[in-house]
Amino acid sequence: MEKRIVFVVNFKGQYSRIIARRVRELNVYCEIVDFKDIYKKALEKKPFGIIFSGGPNSVFEEGSPTVEKELFSLNIPILGICYGAQLIANMLGGNVESANKREYGTFKTKFDVKSFLFDGLKECSKTLMSHTDKVTSLPKNFKVTASSSSTEIAAFEDGSKNIYAVQFHPEVLDTEQGEDIFKNFLFKICGCEQNWKLDDFLQNTIEKIKQKVQDKKVLLALSGGVDSCVLAAVLQKAVGKNLTAVFVDHGFMRKNESEEINSCFKEWDMNFISVDARKIFLEKIKGVVDPEEKRKIIGKTFIEVFEKKAKEIGKVNFFAQGTIYPDIIESGEKDDKKATIKSHHNVGGLPEKIEFDEILEPFRYLFKDEVRKIGKKLGLKDSLVYRQPFPGPGLAIRIIGEITEEKLEILKDADLIFRQEIEKESKKPSQYFAVLLNTKSVGVMGDARSYCYSLALRAVETTDFMTATIYKPSFEVLENIAKRIVNEVQGINRVLYDITTKPPATIEYE
Ligand code: XMP
Repeated sequence: MEKRIVFVVNFKGQYSRIIARRVRELNVYCEIVDFKDIYKKALEKKPFGIIFSGGPNSVFEEGSPTVEKELFSLNIPILGICYGAQLIANMLGGNVESANKREYGTFKTKFDVKSFLFDGLKECSKTLMSHTDKVTSLPKNFKVTASSSSTEIAAFEDGSKNIYAVQFHPEVLDTEQGEDIFKNFLFKICGCEQNWKLDDFLQNTIEKIKQKVQDKKVLLALSGGVDSCVLAAVLQKAVGKNLTAVFVDHGFMRKNESEEINSCFKEWDMNFISVDARKIFLEKIKGVVDPEEKRKIIGKTFIEVFEKKAKEIGKVNFFAQGTIYPDIIESGEKDDKKATIKSHHNVGGLPEKIEFDEILEPFRYLFKDEVRKIGKKLGLKDSLVYRQPFPGPGLAIRIIGEITEEKLEILKDADLIFRQEIEKESKKPSQYFAVLLNTKSVGVMGDARSYCYSLALRAVETTDFMTATIYKPSFEVLENIAKRIVNEVQGINRVLYDITTKPPATIEYE
């Protein structure tokens, strides 16, 4: 089946991911492409449309991300958003200037509903603006198609060439008619069809894996998390007994989790091997305090343990892992190390050279909720499919500073109490866990002075884990949790609740 692909161009920011989600939610397949590659990829794949995302630069700054001018002559509809809109104006002969003040917030915006982009919209509604630079004059043949109280040129276009630009952000929910704008662009302007369906994806993926693997062997890195469990079910369908799932217990799992994973997967009709590598990991991570170094060491050790296991079970050709799209993007492109936020265990943590013929990552372009839907389609239990995400390096990145057995035990016990109490709430957060800080402080217990660790509690609400707001339990609930932790867990005398959103903080601490 031919894919109706749309490209979202990334200009060194995170905005492209939210846009990509909006497009996927409308059942149109899209991929994020780096600005440097877009022209080449557009020539190759002939996408139905291209969306320029926002970005942190100014178009007139030296070295700011740009695209080949020929992109505008390929007869492919283009929608520029924020930085993308300014780039269109700047490249085609308009003018962009820096306003001294950043403009942020929702503004009433009036649309020219005769534009295809705004066809069928209410004439007036709120849009979210977030910019410092603004377009002050338009390229030839372009006209203004929306204005707001803050920005006279809130949208502009050359409809005859199918080039559209909006200064506001239609991808965020604060922009009231954002979804309709995407629908108009994708369906009325680009002529896309809503044919990105997970059922098709699943069938195609199983077929592709079957053809690729044939009767060779696949080793799956099973962490017990949602992505790798769902992948196990997909691979089992595709290659059956040629699959061996290996769970490496690195010792950084939550309380009782390794035992739970072992008993769950032993019930599956699948080759399953559990490796107790706790001592090896603890030894390798001894004395390491740098977060990135921790991640890299854990990633490398994982692979070493896998390779060793693989040799024991004979020639293994494929190494499979449940990498998903956000892992890839947050780990940064290989040639753009500066953009790395964290080396996600599945991607950046891998050593350069691994001893398998090929890596299988069938979920590479999926978002987590899409993986969950596949899990449901394959009949996996809700307790597996809807479990909260747990990072590959586990508690190792929730212990700030050096990791010791003592600290691990303290964190496991405290984390369990936090989870038990939060799970009593009627509405659970998307992710909730405890973090052992590398700070000791003075307390008083009974009549004695204590000098113990501080513990941070983190609970966030999010759908895509790219941005997150804080979960707000009542103070009574928090007080009760703090009381239980300091009473029941030796080694903690202070409990803090983290009230930072993402961004600027990330969800995990390291
Ligand atoms: P951050 O901390 O980047 O986390 O805001 C976003 C989401 O990703 C999870 N996370 C990971 N997942 N391997 C994973 O499989 C990793 O190395 C990793 N690091 C962070 C994190 O728990 C959150 O859900």
